[in-house]
Amino acid sequence: MTASPIEFSHLTKTFGRVQAVRDLTLSVPAGAVVGLLGPNGAGKTTTIRILATLGRPTSGQVEVAGRSTTAEPDAVRRALGYVPQEIAFPNWMSGRAYLRFAAALSGVAAGERRARVESTLELVGLAEVGDRRTQTYSGGMRQRLGIAQALVHDPSLLVLDEPVAALDPIGRSEVLELISGLRGEVTVLLSSHLLDDVDRACDRVAILSEGRLLAHDSTTSIKERYGGPVFHVEVRGSAAGLAERLSGEAWVEQARAEGSALTVVVSDPDRAELELPRAIAASGLPLLVFRRELPSLEEVFLRLVSGSGKPA
Ligand SMILES: Nc1ncnc2c1ncn2[C@@H]1O[C@H](COP(=O)(O)OP(=O)(O)O)[C@@H](O)[C@H]1O
Ligand SMILES: [Mg+2]
Repeated sequence: MTASPIEFSHLTKTFGRVQAVRDLTLSVPAGAVVGLLGPNGAGKTTTIRILATLGRPTSGQVEVAGRSTTAEPDAVRRALGYVPQEIAFPNWMSGRAYLRFAAALSGVAAGERRARVESTLELVGLAEVGDRRTQTYSGGMRQRLGIAQALVHDPSLLVLDEPVAALDPIGRSEVLELISGLRGEVTVLLSSHLLDDVDRACDRVAILSEGRLLAHDSTTSIKERYGGPVFHVEVRGSAAGLAERLSGEAWVEQARAEGSALTVVVSDPDRAELELPRAIAASGLPLLVFRRELPSLEEVFLRLVSGSGKPA
């Protein structure tokens, strides 16, 4: 049997009096794209740095493909590619030259370097612009070069710390598409405090808060288990008055209006299916859209972190 790509066992890390990671046990299945989610200070970077052999556990351990990050750090470094939260490149170097340099550093044999560099540039979509100085790259291009740098030695595991936090919406899409495209080829663990992005790219999520793992499952199961259904409504005209009226109802957890769109998080879905259409009709506003959906990760997350989310 091949070992699971990442196995965290009772991982704990303290910095003085701060408990950054508390008893984290988690195993990541091969080929999955897993999001490590949590607000700032949740312990994501600490966890990822230990995984990437850049920090040591206070207690517990992490194994990558069956190798301990502390006992066999060299084997772990060969098995994984790491993209730090803030990655800087020498401005004067071209993307291609930088990647050759990264390939040499990560131990790609001299005879294989050229081919590895070209196929990796191709994979991240930078082959055409490989000869331009990194200085001229957009945020998304830089992040893709960071991913190329991590993949150039052909690891089985890719670890990224907040890969889209610093990017504009176009850069985010570029990078998330690239990461999604790696599904099945490489196991991916990425951290993020941006839940919508993780929702788009990941098939599994692990939610951390104050160093503790609150939940870990497929994105869909987590939503089904921890979030009530959400109703999306669109009317012609402003939904603000409707939202205000609904907020007082016992079966409504939260009603938010944004222009003509209304989002209603409910505690009693059966009642909502009966009462919500009635309330809309009573408002006299023409109804354009009425949809029942799973909640967004953001909604699940807010419930879990505020402690109100209990498994159904
Ligand atoms: N080197 C360090 N020294 C002291 N405290 C640290 C250090 N690194 C992280 N911490 C603390 O550990 C906690 C978790 O931080 P971090 O892992 O960076 O969280 P995240 O990446 O989720 O924002 C925070 O309270 C942070 O201040
Ligand atoms: Mg961090």
